[in-house]
Amino acid sequence: MTIKHILSCNQFTPSFIENLFNNTKKIKNISTKENYYKKFNHSTKILANLFYEPSTRTSSSFFSAAVKLGLSVIPINEMKYSSVAKGETLEDTIRTMGCYSDIIVLRHFEKGSAEKAAKVSNIPIINAGDGDGEHPTQALLDLYTIFENTMDKNIKVGFMGDLKWGRTVHSLSKLLNLYNIETHYIAPEYFQLPEEYRKQNGFYHTQIKEILPELDILYVTRIQKERIEDKSLLDSYNSDDYIINLEKIKHSKKNLMIMHPLPRVGEIATEIDNDPRAFYFNQMQNGLYVRMAIIDYLLCYSA
Ligand code: NCD
Repeated sequence: MTIKHILSCNQFTPSFIENLFNNTKKIKNISTKENYYKKFNHSTKILANLFYEPSTRTSSSFFSAAVKLGLSVIPINEMKYSSVAKGETLEDTIRTMGCYSDIIVLRHFEKGSAEKAAKVSNIPIINAGDGDGEHPTQALLDLYTIFENTMDKNIKVGFMGDLKWGRTVHSLSKLLNLYNIETHYIAPEYFQLPEEYRKQNGFYHTQIKEILPELDILYVTRIQKERIEDKSLLDSYNSDDYIINLEKIKHSKKNLMIMHPLPRVGEIATEIDNDPRAFYFNQMQNGLYVRMAIIDYLLCYSA
């Protein structure tokens, strides 16, 4: 089975993930060697990095991953300077980039936009976040970070924060479900995981206290303010309840993994940064290697 576009975590199987992660591991191991670039043969290829929404890590890691593989990059993230500002449709922009590049990374504010783009694209599309839909490459780097630390599938993973609008949670939940991993969702009722992402092995909580001591992984997310039109809903979100600091994790497992897709806006106190339970900077670093493996896969196998 080959995957032409990376659109949703529904596309992945454990064997696809295993192969991708084996390549990621190889890439990570050679990343400090001098002949890094010579290993890959993508120097005639071009990646279009098309960002309709703000991004630091995703856009830079794709940019860096592409350059490290020998590709050149067309960065488009200031839409006001492109034809989008003149009212061009997403489809026409995708057709255009298909003439000038070999692979498109797309972040867009609309759920379903990556699928829409793939329908008219003659080159691979990578969904780098479609509104409150999915963020499959983030989920892959999250899972890579988890498996790097533990291969045990008999673990309990907790998600805490804005689970309604947070696309990274939607995608990672789907991946964990592939391995039948037990998941716990901790959020105020309004911000709970939408029905469409709920699976048999999920449990729902409003308070972290009741479940934290049992968790092996705690995945924290920020509230997605930019997606919430009715700002009065923000008042129902008592952010203190959904902040993690050293005091709160006093009774966690010693080897708890604390994860976050970043950016954080106060949900994880910086006093945790140097604690062995902090894994969010590992995720950030692994994003580079996982995205190199993804680009390499799409260029090699989906041609
Ligand atoms: C996430 C996103 O864009 O969905 N960021 C990221 O890509 N690492 C999380 C977020 O913005 O909260």
